[in-house]
Amino acid sequence: MSTLLQLNSSLFGENGVSTQLADAFVRNWQTSHPQGRLIKRDLITQPLLHMDGDTLGALMSSPDQRSPAQQALVDEADTLINELQQAEVVVIGAPMYNFSVPSQLKSWFDRVARAGVTFRYTEQGAQGLLSGKKVYVFTSRGGLHQGQASDGVTPWLRTILGFLGMDEVEFIYAEGLNLGEQARAEGLAQARKQLSQLAA
Ligand SMILES: Cc1cc2nc3c(=O)[nH]c(=O)nc-3n(C[C@H](O)[C@H](O)[C@H](O)COP(=O)(O)O)c2cc1C
Repeated sequence: MSTLLQLNSSLFGENGVSTQLADAFVRNWQTSHPQGRLIKRDLITQPLLHMDGDTLGALMSSPDQRSPAQQALVDEADTLINELQQAEVVVIGAPMYNFSVPSQLKSWFDRVARAGVTFRYTEQGAQGLLSGKKVYVFTSRGGLHQGQASDGVTPWLRTILGFLGMDEVEFIYAEGLNLGEQARAEGLAQARKQLSQLAA
């Protein structure tokens, strides 16, 4: 059975452009995978704490010496890693906020990047342990940033996903959403065109 993990991180909830595009992709996927399993996480309504000293301390502690509070922090991170390990397809709604990804999405990566579990260091360098997945990133922006230095979303996501072994990444862009009616319509049309090409 195929599993898809969907991560949403729009402050606008179901109305977020990145969420709506990701949802449309997932609906197509469910049609072509009627037996498929969907794991969905909204990182805004179910936020993770920012990585802090307590969380890092819990993750580095030996299992037999953890307090119940530390164990709860480890269990939460383990659950997120488990969901990611199970998924063959990963769909990420990644709006641009202040030239980067939402901090809630960054917190999710801070939990799932774990040495010895999702990546490891070797004499030849770091090696990602999450290969064989296909990742689709739906990234929405008020302005136009694709291919420019102001795009702090695409290069960072490509780097961290690649670091974890996920090299097959497709970006779907909805840009110019705050640049007036015509620019918004064009940005949405471009994203929908990419979506229908993926569905075909
Ligand atoms: C807090 C905040 C910060 C934003 N920062 C940027 C930005 O740096 N660059 C940009 O082009 N658009 C920016 N925008 C506009 C969003 O990218 C745009 O509203 C987009 O539709 C958000 O995606 P979403 O609808 O999926 O949440 C920002 C919007 C908000 C609410």
